[in-house]
Amino acid sequence: MAEQQQGDQHWFEGVYAKANREANNISWADLRPNLFMLEWLETVEPDTRNKSAVVVGCGLGDDAEELALRGYNVTAFDVSATAVDWCRQRFPDSKVDYVVADLFNLPKDWQFDFVLEINTIQAIPVAVRNTVIKAIAALVAPGGTLLAIGRLAKTAEQQVKRPWPLTRAELHAFVDAGLTELRFDTFGDAEISTLSLVRFQVTYRR
Ligand SMILES: C[S@@+](CC[C@H](N)C(=O)[O-])C[C@H]1O[C@@H](n2cnc3c(N)ncnc32)[C@H](O)[C@@H]1O
Repeated sequence: MAEQQQGDQHWFEGVYAKANREANNISWADLRPNLFMLEWLETVEPDTRNKSAVVVGCGLGDDAEELALRGYNVTAFDVSATAVDWCRQRFPDSKVDYVVADLFNLPKDWQFDFVLEINTIQAIPVAVRNTVIKAIAALVAPGGTLLAIGRLAKTAEQQVKRPWPLTRAELHAFVDAGLTELRFDTFGDAEISTLSLVRFQVTYRR
């Protein structure tokens, strides 16, 4: 399989390009920081001074901007050039370094004190999930922290269509990649059809 097709990279660029700078056309864009992330930041109160952070699949940039406001030196990347341009247009005075980059081909020297992953793993086909998780784990510097948030599947049968929720077993790949799980929480238990609406929030440390 060609690397470019591994995670439907062109599919995402197509969605952003067709949206024509109208966020209502992007189903996952809500133009505000993720509420679970905000609660995590309020609870954990991480030391952000002189700390680097990276936002995986940053979309339209609201989470990255929030981390920068709280003092992190933030890099935010997305495979979609249109999404990255859009971030730069939305936040012209931003301190965030917005970068076009592909999880399947990241710079080898990228390591950060804080890694934020929200709803990106679940948006990429299950067949390459292990590769995606390994790539995200590799971004965590020694002593660094990863916060991952997404949908939780109770069983693989719930992985019917995008977004393909993650099973607890799949998440274990972060531990296999050398991270230690510090905390795992779930929220909500409703299900509509076969789409799980249970959210997980998990914190790891290297
Ligand atoms: C479901 S959206 C989530 C966006 C954002 N994290 C949020 O919570 O709103 C998934 C994002 O991951 C990006 N993405 C998908 N595949 C990627 C890849 N291979 N490398 C980097 N970003 C990718 C998409 O372009 C999209 O912006």
